[in-house]
Amino acid sequence: MELGLRNARVVVTGGASNIGRGIVHGFAAEGSRIVICDIDEVQATKVRGEALERGAAEVELAIVDLTEPDGAARAVAVATGAWGGLDVLVNNAGWSVPGFVATDTDRDRWQRLVEVNFFGAIASTQAALEPMVEQRSGSIVYVASEAAFGQIRQAVYGATKAAVVALARTTAREHGRHGIRANIVCPGLVMPESPDAVGADSLWAVGEENVFNDTQKEYLLKDTPLRRLTTADDIAHAVLWLASDSAARQVTGQLFSVSGGYTMP
Ligand SMILES: NC(=O)c1ccc[n+]([C@@H]2O[C@H](COP(=O)([O-])OP(=O)(O)OC[C@H]3O[C@@H](n4cnc5c(N)ncnc54)[C@H](O)[C@@H]3O)[C@@H](O)[C@H]2O)c1
Repeated sequence: MELGLRNARVVVTGGASNIGRGIVHGFAAEGSRIVICDIDEVQATKVRGEALERGAAEVELAIVDLTEPDGAARAVAVATGAWGGLDVLVNNAGWSVPGFVATDTDRDRWQRLVEVNFFGAIASTQAALEPMVEQRSGSIVYVASEAAFGQIRQAVYGATKAAVVALARTTAREHGRHGIRANIVCPGLVMPESPDAVGADSLWAVGEENVFNDTQKEYLLKDTPLRRLTTADDIAHAVLWLASDSAARQVTGQLFSVSGGYTMP
């Protein structure tokens, strides 16, 4: 299937590590023009090189903190400044630390989760809508989580992701008339494919075992119909399809679990 993403102008937030990196690789292989928006310059620079090797038409970096008031606007401005518009925004940047609801009492951490996962997505959406409304086209893909439907040790994080789902669907309803689509991908567990796949600001930098240990993985796989963990490439394939106006032009406001069937929302 021809996705028509050659030279598409794309911003991927959190594009330096793990899932975001896989999404950048996916657009690169389609020959898109990509802005890697991330707080981690070292890792983003590495992924820029990987994307060019894989066939990206052009790659720019936007090294910003999306929790800062002008962070998202600066990232979108890199794309519009270089290429005169924006076709695709992937709202992927996120952060989480697992914790049981009764004992996860650190208010500063709740605040940080809301700032990164939700406020970052709002600001990026608003910044992207400006050029997209003007050009009367665009696709926004949100990377949420199955925690949005309720998962053990993910109360606050899951709540921020449920908020992202509402943000995406409202955007779809309000801006369909402007030719803009908004959809949601909920990844299953995606472990980094190698130490190379994550930078110092990745949620995985604390050590994989501290995020998801082998026993937890075993339980998860038992409940996964396809009996395999999800990869960053699996997520990238879904994101690319949703980003493509030729492949998914009639799809908006929809949520897809890419998890081997772990949830069936
Ligand atoms: N990995 C999983 O199993 C999984 C499962 C479900 C959902 N998700 C979601 O997928 C997304 C990516 O997850 P991941 O595993 O690749 O995480 P990750 O931590 O490896 O990557 C996130 C990237 O976002 C960047 N980032 C963090 N805060 C930022 C900020 N304030 N401004 C700009 N950039 C910032 C980080 O530097 C990093 O490169 C997140 O939204 C996460 O919640 C992940």
